[in-house]
Amino acid sequence: MTPDIRLVDAFAADLDEHHELHLAVSRADYPNVAPPTRETVLARLRDPDVDLGERLFWTARVDGRLAGAFAAQLPVDGNEHLSMIRLVVHPELRRRGIGTQLLRTAASVLRQRGRLIAEVSRVESNSPGARFAAALGFRTVNTSVFQLLEFAEVDPAVWDVSPPAGYRLVRWIGRAPDHLVESYARARRAIGDAPPGESAFRTPDWTVARVRRLEAAYLEHGIERRVVAAVADDQVVGLTELDLQPLRPDLAAQRDTAVLAAHRGHGLGQAMKASMLRWITADKPDVQRVWTSTAVANQYMADVNHRLGFATVRRYSVVNRELAGL
Ligand SMILES: CC(C)(COP(=O)(O)OP(=O)(O)OC[C@H]1O[C@@H](n2cnc3c(N)ncnc32)[C@H](O)[C@@H]1OP(=O)(O)O)[C@@H](O)C(=O)NCCC(=O)NCCS
Repeated sequence: MTPDIRLVDAFAADLDEHHELHLAVSRADYPNVAPPTRETVLARLRDPDVDLGERLFWTARVDGRLAGAFAAQLPVDGNEHLSMIRLVVHPELRRRGIGTQLLRTAASVLRQRGRLIAEVSRVESNSPGARFAAALGFRTVNTSVFQLLEFAEVDPAVWDVSPPAGYRLVRWIGRAPDHLVESYARARRAIGDAPPGESAFRTPDWTVARVRRLEAAYLEHGIERRVVAAVADDQVVGLTELDLQPLRPDLAAQRDTAVLAAHRGHGLGQAMKASMLRWITADKPDVQRVWTSTAVANQYMADVNHRLGFATVRRYSVVNRELAGL
């Protein structure tokens, strides 16, 4: 079977057929998870992960029908060797080589763009995706847990955590205050100390220019990025970040949390995350749950999340391989 594979504009994609594809994938691969709504699928098409740079998007069609989709992002600022990819094939059309052909078509473009490695950040263990990845020569380079906090199930008293003496917490939405932006960019590099496994993703070169560029990109995509920073002597020494997407008003994404090495061991991580949860529940009543992802090796952060009310829902692998030879 030769599918018709094309590089297309995800923003112009037909929502109905992509929703149908993702509903079928959800029924086949994630029967215990709520099926994606139209808004979820629209959010995926409209809002690539802006931290991961430009996105390229391919579709595969068989007799005109949408059979699969492939997204590749091209991160910058130190990750020019890498492309983060995602692919799905309709369950009724699997094992006919469509996934392989999507991967090969995309790989040739990604190589032309100078990328050397393709990485998938979420592959469920023991799934068709894991078997496909193994058959295509990907290897597991890290394992993470997906954690979810349901506000209706958590006693807010667990977020009653004050910052340790000598630190104050500063909150902002969107744009870091000018007097803090330099130390904020520096503190963002501290995420590089989290256990990376053998992932090919390197801690980006965090500069004020990167911070400001991404803040503008969130704004452009309508993403509300909230930051709680720990400040000592007017310098940011730690931070936690959370995203609210306009198309997913019920679900917030807890992103990076990092504390500079010299300030660890005082409970800043927990105090900042607790402050974030108090903030969200105080002024965003529509948010019903928060998800986050944490490397299995980062037991400390997974434990902090448990104390704050997150439950571990699933484990998944990060896999990668060289683009050469595909
Ligand atoms: C992963 C996925 C995209 C594969 O699509 P596909 O079109 O069925 O893949 P292909 O037909 O090109 O499979 C290529 C090879 O992978 C292996 N493979 C794929 N699915 C498999 C399965 N369910 N069980 C065992 N091996 C499998 C086989 O070796 C297969 O070759 P073969 O059929 O000649 O034996 C599809 O299963 C899917 O959408 N899964 C959910 C999303 C996902 O997990 N994506 C992440 C992928 S890393």
